[in-house]
Amino acid sequence: MKTLHIKTFGCQMNVYDSARMADLLAPLGYRPVNDPARADMVILNTCHIREKAADKVFSDLGRLRLDKQAAAAEGRRMVLVVAGCVAQAEGAEILRRAPYVDLVVGPQGYTRLPDLLARLGPPAGQRVATEFPVEPKFDLLPAPSADGPSAFLSVQEGCDRFCAFCVVPYTRGAEYSRPAAEVLADARALVRQGVREITLVGQNVNAYHGAPGGLGRLLRDLAGLDRLDRLRYTTSHPADMDDDLVAAHRDVPALMPFLHLPVQSGADRVLKAMNRRHTADDYRRTVDRLRAARPDIALSSDFIVGFPGETEAEFAATMDLVAEIGFAQAYSFKYSPRPGTPAAELPDRVPDAVAGDRLTRLQDRLNADQEAFNRACVGRVMPVLLDRPGRHPGQLVGRGPYMQAVHAPSRTARLGDLVDLEIVAAHPNSLSGLPVGATADTRVCA
Ligand code: SAH
Ligand code: SF4
Ligand code: F3S
Repeated sequence: MKTLHIKTFGCQMNVYDSARMADLLAPLGYRPVNDPARADMVILNTCHIREKAADKVFSDLGRLRLDKQAAAAEGRRMVLVVAGCVAQAEGAEILRRAPYVDLVVGPQGYTRLPDLLARLGPPAGQRVATEFPVEPKFDLLPAPSADGPSAFLSVQEGCDRFCAFCVVPYTRGAEYSRPAAEVLADARALVRQGVREITLVGQNVNAYHGAPGGLGRLLRDLAGLDRLDRLRYTTSHPADMDDDLVAAHRDVPALMPFLHLPVQSGADRVLKAMNRRHTADDYRRTVDRLRAARPDIALSSDFIVGFPGETEAEFAATMDLVAEIGFAQAYSFKYSPRPGTPAAELPDRVPDAVAGDRLTRLQDRLNADQEAFNRACVGRVMPVLLDRPGRHPGQLVGRGPYMQAVHAPSRTARLGDLVDLEIVAAHPNSLSGLPVGATADTRVCA
């Protein structure tokens, strides 16, 4: 038996890829461990989306170098692998700055891990796999293994949208949609292992075209699978929300009433400069269509503040849009110029202090909206899929329909259960729930 530690940064695609790397390495005898210092192999699955994310890799590598040296002093070899989007974008730089790294594999190249490991020479014999393979990577992956009742299923890789700020089209390559039959086969394999919730993932997942009818059709087909209770998909582009997909929110009960639909900005000039290809009003109309189809749908978004040239009035337009829509949760970021992207060449950089101030104002508003949304859930009963142990003994944690983490006492339910819980308290980032109709005794939160 050998031990493997994978640390994952970035988006759901990386979470999916990390699980697949574990699947690829399991037949070679690798089993996952929590402590990198004790692992025979450490994989950093990295993210290149913002400068800070990319920098983290090098600070982590500095620490791992010491772990690797300590392992060598004990006569063990620790194989150090850098995977993911930083590996893809900066493979050569990684090898230059961290010559103790053994393997560099991109998001498409990791399917070659077993082969690269077999050919791994003596320490310091490095290998790199950052070419985009001819065959889709999914053809080279084993059937997915489930890890709990909720699973990510990748239906798409890459992106053709080329938003001016974004590295994804360069690190993940051109958009590729997996054939629907393949997706259904993976979904069946997951359901057989007890999975009850599947989140379809792709960089621009609602542009999925692996079958006639696109993502709406795929969701309807998946909803036909026995014992698959919940469906979600992420991340979507507002301009790809077609009528059939909107209608699926009305017609498919398993499709959860929550959608992450990043808008980035509320100002049309900024949206145009970002190459988002829709206006703020287009976004409002899309939200109206979704709410007409599924009145209880909750929305989430991403925002970038301080995009080159963003004026105070343009930022105010973003704040107006936020006030109008009322997001249940959101992520917001200061613009980070990324090498090789068109926006990095734009003039009129917004001073860091100005961008920081805008980010604070935006986040204050988004946090207040999220807390209000959470408070409005108190007193309601919602189905919660308990998918992990809580931090405290006697506690389980799951997800409600709107993606909030819900804590519940474990003596009334088991991991993997989908239970109706009455929401009894709201916190900024989570809720507390108790079984409906529980007696005073069992309602005591452990
Ligand atoms: N495919 C998704 C986004 C993936 S990146 C979509 O189209 O919405 C996740 C988020 O990171 C983006 O929505 C954006 O808000 C943010 N982001 C991407 N590039 C960025 C950059 N250069 N600077 C700051 N934030 C960025
Ligand atoms: Fe990046 Fe835009 Fe593609 Fe999203 S849609 S991954 S932001 S290029
Ligand atoms: Fe990051 Fe790559 Fe995802 S850059 S956000 S890990 S696609």
